[in-house]
Amino acid sequence: MLSIFGSVHILAVVAIQLLIIPSVSSLNLTNAYLHHKCNNTEGKYSYGSAAFEKYINLALRAMDSDNFLNGFGFIERGEDPNKVFVMYQCRGDSYGSKCQSCISAAVSGLRRRCPRNKGAVIWYDQCLFEISTINSFNKIDYENDFYLSNPKNVNDKELFNKETSALLVELTNKATDKNNMVGNQFVLYAAGEKRIGTKNVYAMVQCTKDLVTTTCAACFEWIFKMFSKCCDGKRGGRVLGTSCNFRYELYPFLRN
Ligand SMILES: *[C@@H]1O[C@H](CO)[C@@H](O)[C@H](O)[C@H]1NC(C)=O
Ligand SMILES: *[C@@H]1O[C@H](CO)[C@@H](O)[C@H](O)[C@H]1NC(C)=O
Repeated sequence: MLSIFGSVHILAVVAIQLLIIPSVSSLNLTNAYLHHKCNNTEGKYSYGSAAFEKYINLALRAMDSDNFLNGFGFIERGEDPNKVFVMYQCRGDSYGSKCQSCISAAVSGLRRRCPRNKGAVIWYDQCLFEISTINSFNKIDYENDFYLSNPKNVNDKELFNKETSALLVELTNKATDKNNMVGNQFVLYAAGEKRIGTKNVYAMVQCTKDLVTTTCAACFEWIFKMFSKCCDGKRGGRVLGTSCNFRYELYPFLRN
């Protein structure tokens, strides 16, 4: 696990801007690059590799045709040993064209940062994009996680931690409720807010939609263990994996 100091500075700058700029609506909805990881164990495609070009392009074309309506896609292309799995998940408030624009930033960002890698993942505020040679459908990836937090603390740390955790648990229960479906797909996402002392806390939790509710719940259980490391008394924090994530802030950061 790692903390990303560069991004922490970005968050601090955003937080400061929120204080001094009266109209913050555009700032709430940032789509910052957060983090990426190139998996060098999975190897690299050779230059001009026909399989790479063919299957990656087929996968990207399949993504284009699904309109990003669900904000999620899992695409498998190619034949062994050149299988390509592409997964994308947009944040719960980001679908259609908003999801598509995040994914296109992610695709080019990943190509630049992990050129020719067969396995790689990239996180933005509003989406996650992953390529792999291994099928990870409905499997929790315990190896890729990181956290970001606002360097500033709240005053009433104990109460704040307790109530923020309770809000996250409440959202988790909602997200993993097996009756919480749209069509035949689990929602696996919940957002909400709560008054804690003099502050409003805004929060969300989300799993990737390849998971079933029980797997999603197990994933949340895992990332919540990092709450104290990430978020102890912090004014904002998030823990992100490739299978699930949570975030809370003292300002609204989602579309209504
Ligand atoms: C942005 O934040 C401001 C105040 O912090 C809030 O009034 C506004 O509703 C937010 N906008 C969105 C789109 O979340
Ligand atoms: C990288 O890929 C290998 C399999 O090729 C996998 O076992 C390992 O978990 C991956 N590492 C990360 C950090 O995802």
